[in-house]
Amino acid sequence: MRIIDSVADMQAFSRNARRSGKTIALVPTMGYLHDGHASLMREGRTRADILVVSIFVNPTQFGPSEDFTTYPRDLERDRQVAAAAGADVIFAPRADDMYPAGFQTYVDVEKVTLPLCGASRPGHFRGVTTVVAKLFNIVMPHTAFFGKKDFQQLAVIRRMVADLNMDLSIVGMPIIREPDGLAMSSRNAYLGPQERTNALCLNRSLAAARNLFTHGERSVARLREKVLRIITEVPGAAIDYADFRDSETLEAVETANEKTLLALAVKMGTTRLIDNCVLGEE
Ligand code: PAJ
Repeated sequence: MRIIDSVADMQAFSRNARRSGKTIALVPTMGYLHDGHASLMREGRTRADILVVSIFVNPTQFGPSEDFTTYPRDLERDRQVAAAAGADVIFAPRADDMYPAGFQTYVDVEKVTLPLCGASRPGHFRGVTTVVAKLFNIVMPHTAFFGKKDFQQLAVIRRMVADLNMDLSIVGMPIIREPDGLAMSSRNAYLGPQERTNALCLNRSLAAARNLFTHGERSVARLREKVLRIITEVPGAAIDYADFRDSETLEAVETANEKTLLALAVKMGTTRLIDNCVLGEE
């Protein structure tokens, strides 16, 4: 496995690979890799000749009071996880190579970035789409893999790729959870032991809503009430949003159906966690 840390070297590598007829899969990450990331890599491994994993804690997607400087980083461990999952290349650029002096071009996706995380993290998706567009231009993948853990991010990237005629396929992958149900996340490292236990309320409330839905409940008001009751009774849990939306358009719905997305963002102490499910899916 190679580690490439310069944009020019990565572009040269991908240009050569493409010239010799090889296909490229890309898994973009911010590192501190866990099995959620590894599941994307393993799928990428089976779908292309060359698997590139990018590791870049992207400053433009963090708000001024967010955790950019404290975001967990461990390149040595990441190297092992990526190698075990079959990566050929880790692309880990420096921030001043990605955003050199004079940088002033951003990608802005409109409607689909407005609700949910877009409402509570202004500018976040502009940073995400900008860096992902850059990664696509640098790595030149045929296929790129994203997790449904960040459901809105996946929807935003699909929109960008369609709207800007980017010549690659986007694959969405299922949420990987810890054995007790907590969705894997690099930010879980921030949780103290009590918060870690309390954080199970996210998945518990998703399961409860899905269970009511399976038994015929279609009223979003009643489904939401159940979700709020489970989360608000947990000490230290503060709901950022608990929203029911169409899983394709992300528009709000009042009556649930199989394709309704239940998306949660909850602060456990100072750690913001997100999770979601589509009511009609396992
Ligand atoms: P990061 O949070 O590191 O996540 C990288 C990819 O892993 C994303 O597509 C995310 O949805 C996926 N992922 C994270 N946890 C997962 C889980 N438990 N199950 C399945 N997939 C999971 O998302 C980002 O980085 C950044 O915004 C990025 C796209 C790299 C742009 O900077």
